[in-house]
Amino acid sequence: MTEPATLGNQRPSALARLMAGIAERHPNIQPGPIDDSPTPDEPGHPEYHRRRRAEWALARWTTATPPRYRNADATHPHVQEWADAVATDPDTAGSILLTGTTGTGKTHQAYGALRRIAAAGPHRYEVIATTAADMYGLLRPGGSDRGTETELARLTAVPLLLLDDLGSAKASEWTEEITYRLINERYNACLPSIYTSNLPASSPDGPNITTVLGERISSRLSQDTRVIAMTGPDRRRALRSV
Ligand SMILES: Nc1ncnc2c1ncn2[C@@H]1O[C@H](COP(=O)(O)OP(=O)(O)O)[C@@H](O)[C@H]1O
Ligand SMILES: [Mg+2]
Repeated sequence: MTEPATLGNQRPSALARLMAGIAERHPNIQPGPIDDSPTPDEPGHPEYHRRRRAEWALARWTTATPPRYRNADATHPHVQEWADAVATDPDTAGSILLTGTTGTGKTHQAYGALRRIAAAGPHRYEVIATTAADMYGLLRPGGSDRGTETELARLTAVPLLLLDDLGSAKASEWTEEITYRLINERYNACLPSIYTSNLPASSPDGPNITTVLGERISSRLSQDTRVIAMTGPDRRRALRSV
């Protein structure tokens, strides 16, 4: 009867010989557990998925952004803060109102903020960016196929809204009512918005947010909206004179 073959009697496998060779030459190297969990470049790693979401959101941002603002960057620290808050927890971020005279960079900061949110790779990125004048045009009777109420509901429910140049269009009872409903319903739903306006938040003599938009709107805005005053020269004039 032949003895059962033992390992000792066998010629060591190629792998065992290789391991033995390595151990001899590098006595300090110990075999350890193999880390085969995904790296940030591989599916399964949270960072990989965040980057994919960011790519998708940035592509959406580019489509929603007029060519003039495709390089927009949020440089104002309060705008950056707000954008980061929206990316982290949109329900508690609140809204911002950028004020300042023409050419101080309000629209630039606003698109920059939308870009910054996209670049963070949020789980949801649905944005409507419009001017108040275009919005009134769309919402007026006959302004759209879907009708005033459907369009207003869309603007009210969109997760992220940029409403540019509030208070520049000719005001009427109707524009005041539409604007109030929009701001109020977004406020109640805790949805973040960026509003911009050439009107100052307050001014003792001249027109301001309250005198032009009305007391109801200005008091609604004051609830959860941070006013960010943009200052400086008219950048458009500066650009023209170059
Ligand atoms: N931080 C900035 N860097 C470079 N260009 C800017 C910056 N802010 C504004 N601009 C440019 O200056 C011009 C006026 O800015 P804009 O945002 O349209 O002003 P506002 O909306 O306050 O009237 C635009 O052409 C814009 O692209
Ligand atoms: Mg503007």
